[in-house]
Amino acid sequence: MDGNGRWAAAHGVTVAEGHRAGARALRRTVEAAIDLGIETLVVYAFSTENWQRPSDEVADLMVLLSETIDDELPDLAKQGVRTLFLGRRDRIEPWLQEKMSALETETAGLDTLRLWIAFDYGGRAEIVEAARRLIEDGLDPEDVDEDALAARLYAPELREIDLLIRASGELRISNFLLWEAAYAELVFTDKLWPDFDAGDLRAAVEVYAARQRRFGARAAT
Ligand code: FPP
Repeated sequence: MDGNGRWAAAHGVTVAEGHRAGARALRRTVEAAIDLGIETLVVYAFSTENWQRPSDEVADLMVLLSETIDDELPDLAKQGVRTLFLGRRDRIEPWLQEKMSALETETAGLDTLRLWIAFDYGGRAEIVEAARRLIEDGLDPEDVDEDALAARLYAPELREIDLLIRASGELRISNFLLWEAAYAELVFTDKLWPDFDAGDLRAAVEVYAARQRRFGARAAT
């Protein structure tokens, strides 16, 4: 969900306001995803690198996550959205960790759309953690294969990402779902995240639908 800062500068408002507009775009996008019949959506809200931002901005993002849990996600839950968090928990303040866990518990039975919020998430950190779990589980080297590692990622069910959308004109993956997106179709849009809307999501899905996925094999003739 990139481009909140540039959106804020373009509108002459604070970066915090830009992130707030980003939270509104998140709500809009989840509702658009439900309308399109998308069953799983992962959004990148805070990376392992984002801790390096100014402390005020980091604090604002923590408050925004808390407000989103209070104000937006219960409304989405009424529409059947199950919310889960992807990433490290241990560096997040306990009061916020508790809110995250409570929301996960409260929405556990919902199944219209599964919304994963990647928060304190890094693709490299996730793979390192999976490697650590392989060692902790005492696997013999010959038993270490893709299935064994994938089973130890934060959310093994996300194994194969179909479509990865990057907003704001940047042409990078930026440490997002490095393992899971190995064969994802990539769609880049110039739209800054706060301006992203249902039409943009539909356009990206249409681009995806027109692609031929081969997973490294040769296309059928
Ligand atoms: C990147 O834009 C965006 C973030 C680091 C934060 C994303 C957060 C939201 C969209 C808020 C809603 C989400 C929750 C649940 C907290 P940037 O600030 O790097 O933009 P820039 O590249 O234009 O400066």
